[in-house]
Amino acid sequence: QSAVPSICGMPLKYVSLVTLAVQNALLTLIMHYSRVSAAPSQTYSAASAVLLTELLKGSISLTVAFLRLDYCSPNSPSGSSLWNPRVLLYRFRRLGKEVFRPDCWKLSIPAILYVIQNNLQFVAVSNLEAATFQVSYQMKILTTAAFSVVMLRKKLSPTKWLALLFLAIGVGVVQIQNGSSSGHSTGSLHDMNAFKGFMAVVMACFTSGLAGVYFEMVLKNSQADLWVRNVQLSLFSLLPALVPIIFSDASPARPSPGWLQQLFANFGAWAWATVLIQVLGGLLTALVIKYADNILKGFATSLSIVISFLASVALFNFQMTLTFVLGSTIVLVATWMYNQPDAPAGDNFYPKEGR
Ligand code: C5P
Repeated sequence: QSAVPSICGMPLKYVSLVTLAVQNALLTLIMHYSRVSAAPSQTYSAASAVLLTELLKGSISLTVAFLRLDYCSPNSPSGSSLWNPRVLLYRFRRLGKEVFRPDCWKLSIPAILYVIQNNLQFVAVSNLEAATFQVSYQMKILTTAAFSVVMLRKKLSPTKWLALLFLAIGVGVVQIQNGSSSGHSTGSLHDMNAFKGFMAVVMACFTSGLAGVYFEMVLKNSQADLWVRNVQLSLFSLLPALVPIIFSDASPARPSPGWLQQLFANFGAWAWATVLIQVLGGLLTALVIKYADNILKGFATSLSIVISFLASVALFNFQMTLTFVLGSTIVLVATWMYNQPDAPAGDNFYPKEGR
């Protein structure tokens, strides 16, 4: 197990979990607002936002990976500063070797899944109320648990299974209220299609669970640095992120004078805010998966329900009904139940190495 670093004396594990909860709430609200506050013909391209996010995340991860490289190893050029050209060249070559190590292909699977998920998230958030999206997205816990059982052979206690059942019921109750409500939120210029939104959430939860567990498996079963893994993830994301762009009207494959402007048309402050918060979320998710795990991540994001729920009422005039409150409460209780510690024998997540 890796040593857990800390920031100002607080373990990075908890700092990243709390920051992730706030980031999740902010992302849902800002992404929702950025999509529904403009008419569909005047909104920015979700595919361009996903591509931009990957490019930014990849560049940040590459910089961190580069700075973290140990250049004082026995083979490194001796007695020189980081900015010495020989040291720089040596570092670039070492980083290249790390990034393109033989097992780098393993990251192609979560990379494709995350790109699909990130695109689906835009469909979902454009067709559901922010708070409804947030609660429905908690089904990630269900899919994450299912993939953890199948892929990591994690054993779940009866309490955890019961919590999962409650979670499914809670999300179902929230959907009842959603189905009977009108498809327009205040300030929205979009017609929202709740069924389309819900289908997108279900598929996004599926890809989130699979990608998260797969990433955790790759990360914890090898010695490679987290930031190098992030660079690999972003590199493998570029191709699938480009696919919808190549088939769009603004495709660089069909060169027209202003294809770049077209690609980033209507990219205003809210679109940039969405991308930046998404970048922060990606980096935090990676830290949480490394220093905690996917299950704790589910707990952190469910805390964000409360934050975005209250903000939705204030900002988007979201109508709080009894069914919504009931459904959300069941989801929160289920999440709390799920995160109660098991008897020690119940947890064989990483039987060989321990955690
Ligand atoms: O909803 P969930 O927690 O599954 O979302 C994970 C998000 O974090 C996705 O947007 C994914 O692209 C991002 N991520 C990342 N780097 C990782 C793991 C996840 O950018 N190493």
